[in-house]
Amino acid sequence: MTISQFHFHNPVELQYGAGSLSKLPAIVHGLGGTKVLVVGDPGVLQAGLVERVTQTLRAAEIPFGVFTDIKSDPEVRSVDLGIAAARGLGADLIVGIGGGSALDAAKAIAVMLTNDGNIRDYFGVDKIKRPSAPVVAIPTTGGTGSEVTVWSVLSDTENNLKVNIGSPFNYARVALLDPELSRSLPAAVTAATGMDALTHAIESYVNKACHPFAEAAAEKAIRLIADNLRLAVAQGDHMEARGNMLIASSLAGIAFNRIRLGLVHAFALPLGNKFHIPHGLVNGIMLPAVMQFNLPGNLPKYARIAELFGERIDGLSLRDAAARSVHAVRQLKQDIGLTQTLSDFGMTAARCEEVIDETMTSANVMINPRLATRADLQRMLECGMNGTV
Ligand SMILES: [Fe+2]
Repeated sequence: MTISQFHFHNPVELQYGAGSLSKLPAIVHGLGGTKVLVVGDPGVLQAGLVERVTQTLRAAEIPFGVFTDIKSDPEVRSVDLGIAAARGLGADLIVGIGGGSALDAAKAIAVMLTNDGNIRDYFGVDKIKRPSAPVVAIPTTGGTGSEVTVWSVLSDTENNLKVNIGSPFNYARVALLDPELSRSLPAAVTAATGMDALTHAIESYVNKACHPFAEAAAEKAIRLIADNLRLAVAQGDHMEARGNMLIASSLAGIAFNRIRLGLVHAFALPLGNKFHIPHGLVNGIMLPAVMQFNLPGNLPKYARIAELFGERIDGLSLRDAAARSVHAVRQLKQDIGLTQTLSDFGMTAARCEEVIDETMTSANVMINPRLATRADLQRMLECGMNGTV
């Protein structure tokens, strides 16, 4: 199925390769950066990765400051502090290193170096007036794809909400993918962030807005994740698997960037916010149940997903072939040790109504391949609580 009209744009330059961090000084010079704020999360600081970035900048005599006070699901207040740090330093370029939280925060900080007011003025879609200061995004998890998307997702703890900032002025200028920097990522984080990337690829691939360019990127991402996530979790120092997961994550980001996602991500915001479940994990918990529900909305694509996972579908009916995709994802979850349920994080039947209320407000609901009623959402949440599909 090809849709009759679509728009595709992605301006982010990609640099890939083990050891490609050494290219950072040339990238900074190329973007006209004279003073850099390095934005990272406490995890990458502890792993010594911020130090590796600053050593590279120091050796090239590029002035820099460091900001790492970022909580996961970056709080708006963390972004406020980062903006103050960037302005205090007189930074004209931001280097973000880490998982999605660090990259989302780095992009939001860069927006406020060129736009007036407060980051809260830019919550929503297409609100940013001027291009942000240049950002070099260095992802260390194969997860969010933030390095190639228009999105920053922040936690507004004052109002207990997750908020999106989405704008073509919220792109990084360069994504630097260096698998060496993922070497020390713990297995559980590799597993959860890998499931986030897989969810991006599958949800964009089957949704109603998918176009051929997103489709191509999503298919390749699914194949790379099916072939490499187990190995990246089992052998963290397997550089080929690490590299392929970084590539898959960026490809999945390119796929979903402007066409959005589906019901898993519609659930992920309220569930993540109310029960403090890491984003990749909540996606991993909900993905099989949502796939099972969605099958009738796009049987051919789910059958193709099964094939990309290496399932044997010869001789099967289309319906049975499509169902093999759910089986394949469940097996992958088992192999990477992702066994948690929503109940493990305190989700109960009594909280379903409020979760469903918020899920229904997501823009991801309307492009999901199958229209869902409240009763349907309730059944999927029950699967997420019980760990069944
Ligand atoms: Fe996600």
